[in-house]
Amino acid sequence: MKRFEGQVAIVTGGASGIGAATCRRLIAEGASVIIADRNMALATSVAAELGEQAHAVEFDAGDVGSIRSLVHGTIERHGRLDVLHNNAAIGSPEVHARDTNAIDIDFDTWDLVMAVNLRAYLAACKYALPHMIERGQGAIVNSASAGGFSGDISRIAYNVSKTAIIGLTRQIAAQHGLQGIRCNAIAPGLVLTPAARAVAADVIEVMGRYILTQQFGEPDDIANLVCFLASNEARYINGQTYVIDGGMLSHIPANPDLADYAKTHGKGAH
Ligand SMILES: NC(=O)c1ccc[n+]([C@@H]2O[C@H](COP(=O)([O-])OP(=O)(O)OC[C@H]3O[C@@H](n4cnc5c(N)ncnc54)[C@H](O)[C@@H]3O)[C@@H](O)[C@H]2O)c1
Repeated sequence: MKRFEGQVAIVTGGASGIGAATCRRLIAEGASVIIADRNMALATSVAAELGEQAHAVEFDAGDVGSIRSLVHGTIERHGRLDVLHNNAAIGSPEVHARDTNAIDIDFDTWDLVMAVNLRAYLAACKYALPHMIERGQGAIVNSASAGGFSGDISRIAYNVSKTAIIGLTRQIAAQHGLQGIRCNAIAPGLVLTPAARAVAADVIEVMGRYILTQQFGEPDDIANLVCFLASNEARYINGQTYVIDGGMLSHIPANPDLADYAKTHGKGAH
């Protein structure tokens, strides 16, 4: 029996990276999937590749009205909504360049990042929850980030939005768990999506020093976790955020430097 047979899922940001990998896996496991994205050219080509269980829908995460239409349109079309994967986030290099620190960031950039990365997740929950509650079941999986647990040298708005998603996830579970809703989040570290691959190779190499697995994460690694959390196999998991980062956050920040030190000064030198 496939885990999502007969179920309907919305994946926001489903045209690329983690979202596209999740759409692929949900469909392989029996779901009908709404690939919701601002980039319709890409969403349509992913939908064409995935066949008749996939349907591309244009929406803008910055526009609450388009999120309402996305959710209501899905329910009108399919009569049900079982899984909501809130996953779209700002990926524009221009916005990231303006998303700096408390002194330099302008409020328009802050508001834009919060609208797309955070308010959109609340809005999708707001419109999906009444339907899910009426049916007595629904699984929501939010894309946070390892950056939601740790400070960064830049991207103050992005990281704060990801921390807030962890809180939003707990709130939804606390307020609607008894009505049959499970809401969990994933917090990926570096994942080699097209956007991440565009980052300079030497930056990826620096991050690699802190990752405790032999390979970097791929979109499929994250899709596996999303689908587990969305499935009935995770029926006793609610309100949690799962870090999936090759162990990056599992050790003290100085570990790689201490390992170098130990090599130079003899094992266990510190
Ligand atoms: N890739 C990583 O290393 C990484 C690490 C931590 C967290 N994440 C999180 O995982 C999620 C997916 O990341 P990814 O790397 O797969 O991203 P991606 O850039 O490959 O895909 C994001 C998708 O979201 C869409 N999108 C962006 N803005 C939108 C908007 N306003 N309205 C509708 N769609 C919009 C884009 O068109 C794109 O298809 C994001 O929430 C991201 O913050 C990614």
